[in-house]
Amino acid sequence: MEAKLALSRTGHYRMSYNITPHAVDVHLKSISWATERGQIDQVQSQQHNIDRLVGSYVANAFESLQLQRAHLERFSDTDYCRAKLSELKLPPAKVWWIQLLAKIALNSAEAPANTRQLATCLRAELPSYETELTIITRVGENLLRLMQCEGTSEIVHTLFADDLMTRWYTSSVTYNLFNALARETVRLICEQTSAKPMNILEVGAGTGGLTSHLLELFDPSATRYHFTDIGAFFLRAGRRRFANYGFVEFATLDLERDCNEQGFPNGSCSLVIANNVLHDTKNLRFTLQNVSRVLAPGGYLLMLELTDPQVWWHMCFGSLDGWWRFKSDPSDDREELMLLKSEQWSELLAATGFDQTTVLSDSVAPDFANRLFLSRVGRG
Ligand SMILES: C[S@@+](CC[C@H](N)C(=O)[O-])C[C@H]1O[C@@H](n2cnc3c(N)ncnc32)[C@H](O)[C@@H]1O
Repeated sequence: MEAKLALSRTGHYRMSYNITPHAVDVHLKSISWATERGQIDQVQSQQHNIDRLVGSYVANAFESLQLQRAHLERFSDTDYCRAKLSELKLPPAKVWWIQLLAKIALNSAEAPANTRQLATCLRAELPSYETELTIITRVGENLLRLMQCEGTSEIVHTLFADDLMTRWYTSSVTYNLFNALARETVRLICEQTSAKPMNILEVGAGTGGLTSHLLELFDPSATRYHFTDIGAFFLRAGRRRFANYGFVEFATLDLERDCNEQGFPNGSCSLVIANNVLHDTKNLRFTLQNVSRVLAPGGYLLMLELTDPQVWWHMCFGSLDGWWRFKSDPSDDREELMLLKSEQWSELLAATGFDQTTVLSDSVAPDFANRLFLSRVGRG
């Protein structure tokens, strides 16, 4: 822990302790996460069957389009793939996603399974994975139609109906561990930071899945929590969901534009929370610089990012615009997918103003889709 002097409202200096990412990591390692880790282990014991189910949905959709293996093998050639899509009257904007689906089909070594039967078995084996299996089956059973329709409104409707996405981000095997680690991290940062009020900015807050685990932690008289997203829809839903928390403010914020010009001045925040959003932006270097500028010296970025997606994520989310947003900026370094590996995130963070980064989830879940990073900007 480092001690620093902060000027209080009465003009007296007082001590404020700011915990380092490394010290947070040490603290998290002292806690048992056996329940959350146990859920993950159970899912991983069925990973092969989950991948088989997804492979079968994809193979069935291509079969309905009368696309044989020989065609799919040529789909990595984008011009060929585009020509085939045009012949089959599939929307050209879906080319990147369909190339990814072709890879999934080619990598599934086994013959397609009976999808109904396999989904029923998985539901029986993994009752705690119900939300994820609902996402997979909803998209899988409608895959051909989703490949054929223009735009993203169909997939958005499929994913968001009955608050499915809210349930997923709030309480599911995929997020339980990461939400719990993030909550304990934020609790510790608040406890160790005596400089108040704390100005917290959540970017891409979306359904507010993580937010819902954090708001109870704050002292309402000493906190300003900015719930932001690019989409006005999420802000309306957030206002309803978090109406009881008077210290939460709602605003649109586009990470691809300077935060300073959108009501968040440079150096104004102590903590930025970014739950699976940064990869959705077209230029990661710009986005991270934007975030580091909005933080006060010594301020924290708590970031959850997808580093090792399972195949079902590609099938279910690969037709959303955010998956391919990076393609619109040739100066961004990503080539094939919007994701970075853990080490690449750490390098990019170091190059964009963050001088301490720890992957908080590595000791408990080094191998389950997401990673939770805590970074800190330099002290100026
Ligand atoms: C994959 S979702 C993450 C979900 C979210 N954290 C939750 O708990 O529901 C990505 C979120 O980032 C938002 N987003 C996408 N591009 C953005 C941008 N340029 N600036 C800010 N938010 C953005 C989306 O609207 C969406 O809510």
